[in-house]
Amino acid sequence: PEECRVYEFAEACGKSASDVISVLFGLGMLVTKNDFLKQDELEILGEEFGIEVTVKDALEDVNYVDDYHEEDIDDSNFVTRPPVVTIMGHVDHGKTSLLDKIRSAKVAKGEAGGITQHISAYTVDQNGQKITFVDTPGHAAFSEMRSRGTEITDVIIIVVAGDDGVKPQTEEVISHAKASGCPIIVAVNKMDKESANMDMVKAQMAEREMTPVDWGGDVEFIGVSAHTGMGIDDLLENILLQSEVLELKADPSAKAKGAVVESLLEKGRGPVATIIVQNGTLKVGDNIVCDTTYGRVKAITNDQGKPVKQLGLSETGNVLGLNEVPVSGAVMVAQDSDKEAREIATTRAEHARAKELSKSTKVSLEEMSGLI
Ligand code: GTP
Ligand code: MG
Repeated sequence: PEECRVYEFAEACGKSASDVISVLFGLGMLVTKNDFLKQDELEILGEEFGIEVTVKDALEDVNYVDDYHEEDIDDSNFVTRPPVVTIMGHVDHGKTSLLDKIRSAKVAKGEAGGITQHISAYTVDQNGQKITFVDTPGHAAFSEMRSRGTEITDVIIIVVAGDDGVKPQTEEVISHAKASGCPIIVAVNKMDKESANMDMVKAQMAEREMTPVDWGGDVEFIGVSAHTGMGIDDLLENILLQSEVLELKADPSAKAKGAVVESLLEKGRGPVATIIVQNGTLKVGDNIVCDTTYGRVKAITNDQGKPVKQLGLSETGNVLGLNEVPVSGAVMVAQDSDKEAREIATTRAEHARAKELSKSTKVSLEEMSGLI
């Protein structure tokens, strides 16, 4: 089953709800017949009743299975798409500065002057090839995407300040990056500083199974400075090399699919979602669903703040027209009609509300049992 309430589970396996409740009660879990069962509870029940239980994610189900059946994907339309690169690293090691520097160095000269504000995602051109960068979209959004298998990232850059070395969050990022299976590049930042020490960083990273290529390992280390711009070309060339191997492809004519990397409620404009397109082309007028939110795309501004009619593969921009602010990390999928979009989103919203409600009744029951 997908998300499943106690009584639904009981019906599905020919038991009464009280049988299910008493099994869980026997294990110290208090549930009512309207509660949703958690994955581990479902597994326990499966064992107890001798039936096989498979658990699927309901959200993922609607997003992917409905819209992206394998057979819908027509690889004859495939074209190479630009890599999406995420920059991660310890606090203050210079992720944002590096992103801002790359952007000001690489965005067409005419535009550069106008770019003062930091933005969380943008595309640059490196000798005719495009690369999309995303600032760590907050750890919450990242783990959200990861838990849904909707990682947007193709290549991960771990930023380590050359004067500070490996820190707790660097370690976290290393394990995250390894788990993602993406190629990893280490950018040793702040190399303009007297106290920066590339070898120290290499040694610290090698201890954590991130051995530099020139030490016989397979991780590229590139010295950079977000202040002077040193090493940035090197970094970009390296990203292109690594992504070539990945043979990234997608279908620009498919129904648009993407991810929300950031979102906010803007006064006078309503919900604004920064979306990165993973497949298809997102156009003004499209009916989209982002998790429990939906709407008709009213306007799109690209990563340079200019109004555009559409966003192509790996491109990012701000999208207006959603009924509510979607969570970052949400999956965006275009639907055939506004009716469909509304139905999918409202069903999910109701589902999410019911789940919240069942959580709160459960807590109060647990609290009560503690008092007895
Ligand atoms: P959080 O987003 O807070 O995790 O930080 P961050 O990793 O984005 O770091 P940020 O870009 O905000 O930079 C932190 C500080 O380091 C700022 O004071 C920057 O000016 C400084 N800094 C960043 N890059 C460099 C660099 O290449 N050289 C020097 N000297 N200072 C840098
Ligand atoms: Mg930052």
